[in-house]
Amino acid sequence: MGFEHTSVMPKEVHKYQNLKPGDICVDCTLGGSGHAQSTIKAILPDGMLIGIDQDMDAIANAKKVLHPFEKNIQLFHSNFASLPEILQSKGIEGVNSILLDLGFSFNQLVNGKRGFSFNKNEPLDMRMDIRTQLTAKKIVNTYTEKELVNIFFKYGEEKLSRKITRAIVKKRLETPIETSKELAQIIVDATPAKIAFSQKIHPATRVFQALRIEVNQELSLLETFMKDLPSLLVKGGRICIISFHSLEDRIVKHALRKFENGCTCPREFPKCMCGFIPRIRSISKKPIIPTQAEIDANPMARSSKLRVAEKI
Ligand SMILES: C[S@@+](CC[C@H](N)C(=O)[O-])C[C@H]1O[C@@H](n2cnc3c(N)ncnc32)[C@H](O)[C@@H]1O
Repeated sequence: MGFEHTSVMPKEVHKYQNLKPGDICVDCTLGGSGHAQSTIKAILPDGMLIGIDQDMDAIANAKKVLHPFEKNIQLFHSNFASLPEILQSKGIEGVNSILLDLGFSFNQLVNGKRGFSFNKNEPLDMRMDIRTQLTAKKIVNTYTEKELVNIFFKYGEEKLSRKITRAIVKKRLETPIETSKELAQIIVDATPAKIAFSQKIHPATRVFQALRIEVNQELSLLETFMKDLPSLLVKGGRICIISFHSLEDRIVKHALRKFENGCTCPREFPKCMCGFIPRIRSISKKPIIPTQAEIDANPMARSSKLRVAEKI
């Protein structure tokens, strides 16, 4: 199967990016390059798109599909947490637009062969960047019972964390858990039929999500990225962030709020002592969500939320 993209909220992202010819833009999560293609068309003839993805397959695909625009793109097989260093290496002081479309791509799920899907029998890997060390197999077979319960509960909001972890620990004492299918079956077997039937999603959905977040350190890297976000943008430059998980959205929301509020002094201080001033303004107070028609056509868009802010 070829490389596909199912970009989430393409029209909304395009509208809020507010691009013009000549802009310098960053797509931090190229994936199938869907958003990247519409971005680049809006900044021609002399704009520049810096494309980043930690997955080598996404970069290889971008080289192909963005080939007609090769003069206007620079691709980096990197983590978006390294964006400040990437911009510095190119002598760029600020950009007009940054897009983050978090999580994993349709291609990683369907063609990745890295155990992202509980419907496939693949090695339990889940690394988006295969240069990193931690795999889902390592986590499932070596983390303590307490660590596994915490991860499943915190990153997957899995109510059966303890029961599922006990089943995993019992199984791994006999033989290591090697594949996505094996793990999915352990979870299905540990889920009471009454609960399994009452859920709209597969019983393994939450545990697989939690493992992916832990393997790829998704939350801590997002926190690192958000730390000094305003300094990456020029005045009037926009950041669009699509998240798929309440923990991701919380990190984004809090960081944007901090930069929007400026002063962090306690209310009872008679005057500001911290000296922080507002550096961005939110473009929409509430997150933008996909239409029902989009969710029907692309179930992966189900839980997505888009937040947009502008540097002031
Ligand atoms: C939802 S997909 C992006 C889809 C893309 N916007 C499109 O239109 O096709 C997310 C992509 O982000 C990449 N990714 C996730 N976290 C990353 C990070 N911290 N640094 C770089 N790339 C990341 C994944 O490898 C994946 O390819």
